[in-house]
Amino acid sequence: MATALVIGASRGIGLELVKQYRADGWRVIATARKQEDCDALAALGAEPHKLDVNNVEAVAGIGWKLDGEELDVAILNAGVYGPRHDGFPMESDFNAVMHTNVLAAMRLLPIIAPMVSAAKGKLAVLSSRMGSLSERTSPAGSLYRASKAALNSVLIDTALIHGKQGATCVAFHPGWVRTDMGGASADLSVEESAAGIRNTLATLPASDQATYRNYDGTTIGW
Ligand SMILES: NC(=O)c1ccc[n+]([C@@H]2O[C@H](COP(=O)([O-])OP(=O)(O)OC[C@H]3O[C@@H](n4cnc5c(N)ncnc54)[C@H](OP(=O)(O)O)[C@@H]3O)[C@@H](O)[C@H]2O)c1
Repeated sequence: MATALVIGASRGIGLELVKQYRADGWRVIATARKQEDCDALAALGAEPHKLDVNNVEAVAGIGWKLDGEELDVAILNAGVYGPRHDGFPMESDFNAVMHTNVLAAMRLLPIIAPMVSAAKGKLAVLSSRMGSLSERTSPAGSLYRASKAALNSVLIDTALIHGKQGATCVAFHPGWVRTDMGGASADLSVEESAAGIRNTLATLPASDQATYRNYDGTTIGW
């Protein structure tokens, strides 16, 4: 049975990915930081683990708990937007966004990538088109943009280290999606976004180089 890991699966796109992989008959390992969200994931048939991606002991613990797993798909979905203004950046906002979106990836990807390599699988991060340097046309959301650009950098390094062992690394723009982060007037439902991400992962050719994709599979420039 194919196995997927979704990190940050309490709500939004992460939760929908869990639902769709389960509906498709996959074994799903999923993490959330609150016990009630772990209970809800268990009710969906997923194997839940409690994980705040900013808790270094819990991150190390997930490595122990998942030791020996072979992951056909692993998706690092947890992320935060941070302040909705572009005024003077506060250190607390900077730390919250950079820790969740970048530092956590620097800690988690080296733990998870060998489990993906073992299955010659796909290793995805939920980035954003806002992280693209070459396609940037607006400076709005500067802190979030910087964090997703840095996340892309971390993924490219992950591919350089683990790509040759068999992990195909992809950074996704999930579309502008109606979630707590995307808001009610966004373009896409979580169902459409997650379905596109899953289809892109299923059809993505194996590669030792990282790729940056829209949810519908089209390529985005780094
Ligand atoms: N929605 C969009 O339009 C859009 C566009 C581009 C990129 N993205 C990216 O797609 C991903 C998912 O977005 P979304 O729209 O589904 O966001 P969301 O509805 O705000 O959900 C965010 C998810 O991240 C989790 N999370 C945040 N901080 C965490 C932490 N420290 N430890 C563990 N989990 C944590 C949340 O868990 P809790 O419930 O515990 O807070 C929640 O499951 C994010 O990385 C986001 O940047 C979204």
